Amino acid sequence: MKKAGRNESGKKAMSRGGGAAVACLLLLPLLVLAVLKTDFMPQQLIHVGEASIAQDGDESSVPGGVEGAIWQPRQQQLVAKSKAAHDPVVEAPTSPNVVRANRDHKIKKGFLAMNGGMDGALIKSDGDVVAAPTRSKLSCNLSSYRTNMCAMQGDVRVHGKAATVYVVSASDDNRPDNGTITIRPYPRKWETPTMQLVREVTIRWRAPPGPGAPRCTVTYDVPAVVFSTGGYGVNIFHAITDIIIPLYNTAREYDGRVRLIATNYDRKWIAKYRHALSLISIYPIIDLDADNEVRCFPSAHVGTESHKELGIDSALSGKGYTMMGFRGLIRSAYSLKREWVTPINHGSKPRLVMVLRRNSRALTNEAQVVAAAAEVGFEVVAAGPEVVRDLGKFAETVNSCDVLVGVHGAGLTNMVFLPRNGTVLQIVPWGEMKWPAWTSYGEPVAPMGLRYAEYEVTAEETTLKDVYPRNHTVFTDPVSIHKQGFNMLWETFLNGQNLTLDVHRFTGVLQHIYQSLLPSHN
Ligand SMILES: *[C@@H]1O[C@H](CO)[C@@H](O)[C@H](O)[C@H]1NC(C)=O
Ligand SMILES: *[C@@H]1O[C@H](CO)[C@@H](O)[C@H](O)[C@H]1NC(C)=O
Ligand SMILES: *[C@@H]1O[C@H](CO)[C@@H](O)[C@H](O)[C@H]1NC(C)=O
Ligand SMILES: *[C@@H]1O[C@H](CO)[C@@H](O)[C@H](O)[C@H]1NC(C)=O
Ligand SMILES: *[C@@H]1O[C@H](CO)[C@@H](O)[C@H](O)[C@H]1NC(C)=O
Repeated sequence: MKKAGRNESGKKAMSRGGGAAVACLLLLPLLVLAVLKTDFMPQQLIHVGEASIAQDGDESSVPGGVEGAIWQPRQQQLVAKSKAAHDPVVEAPTSPNVVRANRDHKIKKGFLAMNGGMDGALIKSDGDVVAAPTRSKLSCNLSSYRTNMCAMQGDVRVHGKAATVYVVSASDDNRPDNGTITIRPYPRKWETPTMQLVREVTIRWRAPPGPGAPRCTVTYDVPAVVFSTGGYGVNIFHAITDIIIPLYNTAREYDGRVRLIATNYDRKWIAKYRHALSLISIYPIIDLDADNEVRCFPSAHVGTESHKELGIDSALSGKGYTMMGFRGLIRSAYSLKREWVTPINHGSKPRLVMVLRRNSRALTNEAQVVAAAAEVGFEVVAAGPEVVRDLGKFAETVNSCDVLVGVHGAGLTNMVFLPRNGTVLQIVPWGEMKWPAWTSYGEPVAPMGLRYAEYEVTAEETTLKDVYPRNHTVFTDPVSIHKQGFNMLWETFLNGQNLTLDVHRFTGVLQHIYQSLLPSHN
C-alpha cells in the first residue's frame, strides 16, 4: 500500500540517496535573500533621493519546491545552461512623503518591493496622482530566484510597440541620468532558454515629462500588470504555475479592476484560460507587442510574483494569499459546484477520473486498469487528451470526481479543480523518480486541501524491460542515469517508458482510497 501522508512521504523521498543525488545535480544556486532583507532593506527605504543599488551576496543551494519544474517537458537543455543571476536590487528614489508613508508598513511586514509599496493610498487614483509626477515611485526586486518584478506608481506610461514603460518623475530630480531596467515578465528566471522566449520590457525611470516620455493617448484610473503568455504556457502545469498563480499573487488585490497587458500575446492561450483570467481582470487583455497607444496608469507592475511550483508561499505573499484562496477563485471562475468531497451515500458511487497519457508514460494496459477501478466500486471517467483539451468542461468533470489518478506529468495539474478532501493518486514511473514526482505533484497537494496517494511502479511494470537487460544500470543503478545529465534522464525515464501496471497491486491502492471515502472515515 503506497498511500502516504505528505510529510512522511516527503521525508522518505528526501532522505534517499537517489533523490538527493538528483537534487544536487539539478539544483541551481540560489541567492541568499535573507542577507538582502536584513542588511539592505532599511537602507533602501531610508535613502531618499538616491538610488540604492545593492549587489547580492552569497549563493547557496535551492530549498525544495522549485525543482519540480525541471521535470516538465522541453526543459532538457535548461539545467546546464542556466546559471545563478547576480542581479542588483534597485530601489529608485521617490518623493519623501511616499517613502515615509510606505516605510513603516513595509518594515513591519518584513518584506519589501514585492508589494512595491502598493498600500492602497495611491492606487485608488483620482487623476491627481497621475498629474503629480513628483509622486512617481519605482521599486524593483531583481533578487528573487524565480522572478524579476518592478512596481511603480505615479505617472506610468506604457508604450507597447517600444516595449517600454516610462515612470515619469519630476524634472527637478537631482539625479543626472535616466535609469533603465529590462525585465522579461515570466517567472522562470533560472531557465535561460525559456526566458529567451519572452519579450523583454524596458522600464525607464526619471524620464522627464515632455519630450522624455511620450504623451498619453489613453488614460486609465486602474493599475496595470504586464505579464507574458510566452514561455512554456502551453503545458497546463506551466500555465497554472508560471502565469495564472503569479497573476493571482500580483493582481488579485485589485478585485478585477486592473488592466492585464500581455507580451507574447497568445490568443489561443488567452481563450483557453479565459475563465480564470476573467476573475483576475474584468477587462479584456491588452496585447502589448503591437500596441502603438501610449497607455497611462496611476500604477503598474511589470513581472509577476511567483513563489514555488504549483503553490503559494503565504510567508512570501505578504497579502495572506494561500492555495486554498486560489482554489476558491478557480472554483468560482469555472462555476464548479462541489466545494467538498461528500462521503459515499447509499446507491451512489464515488467518482474517479483517470488522466491518460498517450505518447510517453502511457499505460499499456489502460483498459484493464480502468476496469479494475470500476471493479473496486468507482464510477470511472477515462480522460484522454481529447477529453482534457476543453478545459472549462474538464474542470467540471474533475470537480464532479472524488479522486484524480494519473502518471507523473502535467495532467495531474488538474487537481486544482478537485473538491476539497479529494484524493490525488500519482503513479510514479520507474527510475528513482519518487522524489521529483513528489516535489511537482505531491508537495502541492496538502496546501490545496487535498489528500495524496502514490503508486510507484517496479521494474516489472515498465516497458524499459523490453529495451534493456535486467543487469543494465537502468535497473541496477537508475541514479547513475540521473547523474549523466538531464537529457539522459529525460530520454530514459520520462520520454523513454510506458507502464504496464500490476493490476492486482494497483487494485490494493484503489481499495484503500475507496475505504477512505466511506462515511466512517469522514
Ligand atoms: C525580493 O523577493 C524575494 C523573493 O520573493 C524576497 O525573499 C526578498 O525579500 C525580496 N527582496 C527585497 C529587497 O524585498
Ligand atoms: C535622458 O532623457 C532625455 C530625454 O529622452 C535625453 O534628452 C537625455 O539625453 C537623457 N539623458 C541620459 C543621460 O541618458
Ligand atoms: C548482463 O548479462 C549478460 C548475460 O545475461 C552478460 O552477457 C552481460 O555482460 C551482462 N552485462 C553487464 C553490464 O553485467
Ligand atoms: C508508448 O506508447 C505509445 C503508444 O501509446 C507509443 O507511441 C510510444 O512509442 C511508446 N513509448 C515507449 C517509450 O514505449
Ligand atoms: C476531510 O478529511 C478529513 C480527514 O482527512 C476529515 O477529518 C474531515 O472531516 C473531512 N471533511 C469533510 C467535510 O469531509
